[in-house]
Amino acid sequence: MNKIRWGILGCGRIAGKFASDLLLVKDAELVAVASRSKEKALEFAKKYPAPNIHGSYEELVADVEVDIIYVATPHSHHHEHTLLCLKHNKAVLCEKAFAINSRQAYEMITEARSRNIFLMEALWSKFLPHYNMVKAMISEGKLGKLMSMQANFGFKPVDPIPQRIFDPALGGGTLLDIGIYNIFFVHSFLGMPDEIQAFMKPASTGVDEQLAVQFYYRNGALAQMLSSFSSNLATEADIAGDAGRIRLLSRFYEPSTTIHYYPGKIDSLEAIPFSKEGGWGYQYQVRHVHECLKQGLAESPVMTHKDTLELMELMDRIRKIVGIHYNADKLDR
Ligand SMILES: NC(=O)c1ccc[n+]([C@@H]2O[C@H](COP(=O)([O-])OP(=O)(O)OC[C@H]3O[C@@H](n4cnc5c(N)ncnc54)[C@H](OP(=O)(O)O)[C@@H]3O)[C@@H](O)[C@H]2O)c1
Repeated sequence: MNKIRWGILGCGRIAGKFASDLLLVKDAELVAVASRSKEKALEFAKKYPAPNIHGSYEELVADVEVDIIYVATPHSHHHEHTLLCLKHNKAVLCEKAFAINSRQAYEMITEARSRNIFLMEALWSKFLPHYNMVKAMISEGKLGKLMSMQANFGFKPVDPIPQRIFDPALGGGTLLDIGIYNIFFVHSFLGMPDEIQAFMKPASTGVDEQLAVQFYYRNGALAQMLSSFSSNLATEADIAGDAGRIRLLSRFYEPSTTIHYYPGKIDSLEAIPFSKEGGWGYQYQVRHVHECLKQGLAESPVMTHKDTLELMELMDRIRKIVGIHYNADKLDR
């Protein structure tokens, strides 16, 4: 079987977890890693071996042995680094948040489409077994008509706090980092809201340290989302309809979650089993990317470009309401 040859751009925290999950995908091969510093790339490759070790991102995108690049830099740099890959005709799996704003996301998607090159946002939770189980239960009508959703994601960062968490220059704040999971979850089941309300408590750097968002839907559905770097929240989610409720226990976006189903009566709990395998859980999205590449697709039918653009639009709208500004927004004025 022909292996899909991966390159990793940026040797940070998530890059390591991703590299270890690549080992769980039988037709995946890590052929190249790249850091802005050769020493760091060499260090990374000691732990996650790759034959080609690059001391710059430019070297990686010129590497003829690489089929697809995983962009694992801070959100502020996804636009620049994804465009760099695409302009060298490399397929891209780009970490979330896909970009700083929808203008950047649109430019990235337009470039990929004009070259017919595969590009997907690494919204890995959408490929996890529990997410698919919840989706199936909803389609089977186990909740009835969806009426209400709640999702929260919060942790108090501990020292040494990564710079990107609060630095506006790196797209800091809860929304693009962890609030995106709440928004993605609600959007994927309820779609685009008709109205949005939001409040935030800023960090000293001006980005959101805590953010509360509400979505209103004309069909009667309501959703509440809370993200926080001020407190350790449950990081759980509820999806409720007029015939039942699903609660996803901590942490709702990870494969280690538990599904509790309450059919009808509030106290009639059923734990719903679903498949779990080892690793961090990033292998599921990798297998999906492989399927897409093997079929010659330029866009995933599961995490579509439309999904990404709508998510970015929602985050732009929320930021506008509460007043979170990044340098990249200046180009939009
Ligand atoms: N899917 C998930 O579960 C998950 C979890 C955590 C994070 N993420 C996402 O992954 C991305 C990276 O997060 P992370 O936690 O891995 O961050 P990180 O540990 O800070 O790593 C980011 C890497 O980006 C590179 N980089 C390039 N330009 C940079 C700059 N100006 N400042 C800082 N780093 C720069 C650096 O690699 P070199 O020095 O090697 O060039 C750095 O190690 C974020 O977009 C985040 O939202 C996703």
